[in-house]
Amino acid sequence: MVDFKGEAFKIKEEIIRLRREIHSNPELGFEEWETAKLVANYLRSLGLEVQEGVAKTGVVAFLEGKSKEKVVGIRADMDALPIKEENDFDYKSKNEGVMHACGHDGHIAMVLGVAKVLSQFKRELEGSVKFIFQPNEEQFPSGAEAMIEEGVLEGVDGIFGIHVNPQLKVGSVGIKEGPIMAATDKFKIEVRGEGGHGAAPHRTVDAVIIAADIIQNLQSIVSRRVRPVEPIVLTIGRVCGGKSYNVIADKIEVEGTVRTVNPKLREEVPLLMEQTINGVTDIFGGGYQFDYQFGHSVLNNDKELTKLMEKVSRDIIGEAGTIILQNPLLAGEDFASYAKRIPGFFLHLGVSSPNQKVYPWHHSKFNLDEEALPLGTALLAKAAYEFLLEG
Ligand code: NI
Repeated sequence: MVDFKGEAFKIKEEIIRLRREIHSNPELGFEEWETAKLVANYLRSLGLEVQEGVAKTGVVAFLEGKSKEKVVGIRADMDALPIKEENDFDYKSKNEGVMHACGHDGHIAMVLGVAKVLSQFKRELEGSVKFIFQPNEEQFPSGAEAMIEEGVLEGVDGIFGIHVNPQLKVGSVGIKEGPIMAATDKFKIEVRGEGGHGAAPHRTVDAVIIAADIIQNLQSIVSRRVRPVEPIVLTIGRVCGGKSYNVIADKIEVEGTVRTVNPKLREEVPLLMEQTINGVTDIFGGGYQFDYQFGHSVLNNDKELTKLMEKVSRDIIGEAGTIILQNPLLAGEDFASYAKRIPGFFLHLGVSSPNQKVYPWHHSKFNLDEEALPLGTALLAKAAYEFLLEG
């Protein structure tokens, strides 16, 4: 029996070095050229069969074990964010205005570690492993969908993914069966009125007042029209319009996002929103244009794979650190695209350090405790091994 934890910790320094190298050279979605080169070169050095340029910047590698009959997929996302890094360690971003502020640098390094560990024990694998390094997790159209269109899931029986989580302490993981991340949709409302003099509102249709009422009333969809136990968020993140303090605005743009877990509710929300928008604009005699765009689906963790990961985690992390999450997070993840087609499991890896202030994902000072990285490698390597072992 392979000691996956021991093997992962043997290459801890290498995993950390890889993570830092990737961290210092972050690249935006579908532009991960240097990252992809690093990934491909590393995987080739392990003797894996490597395919580059999948969905533009994606990399896929195949590790052949005892047979090709059963295949497990392991996925890492490679993109960074348009954020100016405010950390000041020596491996901070050298690419001004771009930052690995979601931990994808850590995901890449951990999965490269998995490739190294498993390639050393390929004769023990009751099947093969496909490593999927995808572009553009953060934005639409998603990198996962692009990879799937190129056929990366063909012949893959189950897939594992990981995300670092600063809400969990290093040395712990979050596990949940069923919905773990929300469906994430996007909307834009253009409120149309009629402009005019700020002193003569009765001769105008004030788009600011209409927009304000729409913003207020949209929240009552969440509080009054949806079953109270149903997870839902409706956030308006951008309001823009008007020309001057004394001019009545003829147009206001309102943009936001809706997060849901229940697919039926997800379908209903745009209809409820349009009712509200239509009703409110009608009261004032204004008009509107409403665009609603469905994004990532809800990410569902497969029941059997969840059980498998729980067992693996109790072995690698221990009982105390194996945290069974009660609720899904309402952030989104394009790993959902894989997990809706084949059995998938998405693990939350604790990365907050007891000695450091914790910054959330997408913060300009986001960082992670690197002690967590070999644990992530061990968990994924053992999960892949166990998946192939189970008939
Ligand atoms: Ni992320």
